[in-house]
Amino acid sequence: MLRLDFEDLPQAARGAVESQTGRIKAARMAGGGINSGIAAFLDTERGRVFVKGIPADHPQAVSQSREVAVAPYLPAASPRLLWHVDAGGWSLLGYSVLVGRHADYGESDDLVLVLDALQEVQQATAPDLVEIKRAEQRWAAYAEPEDAGLFAGTTLLHTDLAPHNILVDERAHIVDWAWPTRGAAFIDPHVLAVRLMQAGHSAERAVSWVRRIPSWREADPAAVAAFSTATVRSWREIAVQDPQPWKVEMAGHAGDLRTFLMRTL
Ligand SMILES: Nc1ncnc2c1ncn2[C@@H]1O[C@H](COP(=O)(O)OP(=O)(O)OP(=O)(O)O)[C@@H](O)[C@H]1O
Ligand SMILES: [Mg+2]
Repeated sequence: MLRLDFEDLPQAARGAVESQTGRIKAARMAGGGINSGIAAFLDTERGRVFVKGIPADHPQAVSQSREVAVAPYLPAASPRLLWHVDAGGWSLLGYSVLVGRHADYGESDDLVLVLDALQEVQQATAPDLVEIKRAEQRWAAYAEPEDAGLFAGTTLLHTDLAPHNILVDERAHIVDWAWPTRGAAFIDPHVLAVRLMQAGHSAERAVSWVRRIPSWREADPAAVAAFSTATVRSWREIAVQDPQPWKVEMAGHAGDLRTFLMRTL
């Protein structure tokens, strides 16, 4: 989606934000990420706020309601959801501002912090709410019918652990909870492993990193194998529907990870 400047929002939408923040003194577009129609830092009468938004009639607007639903359950290191408004045809979320840079998955120092942050998320139980997807349903179409149940669990999963969804200062903060899911804890380490490969790690290196997460080490190998297969199928479908090079590459990384896991699990 084309990202707009905050000033391009309809007056009704900007007014609704100002009713939360007080007068807006300045607005600056945020870099990184592709999904939001608006992602901006606002300097307001009551301090700084990060705003992300999407037209209310957009098919992805439902991701905003998922973010609202999961917000009370996030670990302290994730930004606080301060308010959400629907006005002027837009759905807008206001978050506390994190000052950090995107994680660099090529840097071991960053990876240590990212794994610490993921380990914190792994302690959280996902709420049983309609907005929160269930892993065994979300990936059912990509698994053999008898395997989807292996993805079930109660752990809070982020499921989109791309480096631009992690901000690093003296620790790592996981942002962009657009795909919160309730499921087996090993799923997020698997998601991260594919992203580590996207950053240039071999499957072996990627797995040696995510092995630091206990849920990965303790996972049922049959469940990991089935999820690995589902991941390949899911990324292949994404790449066929929209063959941007990075999506085709993600399907390739998922396939390479699956091949490695099938040899070593
Ligand atoms: N609370 C925050 N404080 C500071 N910066 C943030 C905050 N939340 C997000 N960002 C920055 O804004 C960018 C876009 O935000 P976010 O990832 O939530 O939205 P998105 O556009 O829907 O993302 P994507 O396209 O990756 O799904 C992030 O990559 C990050 O750099
Ligand atoms: Mg993002």
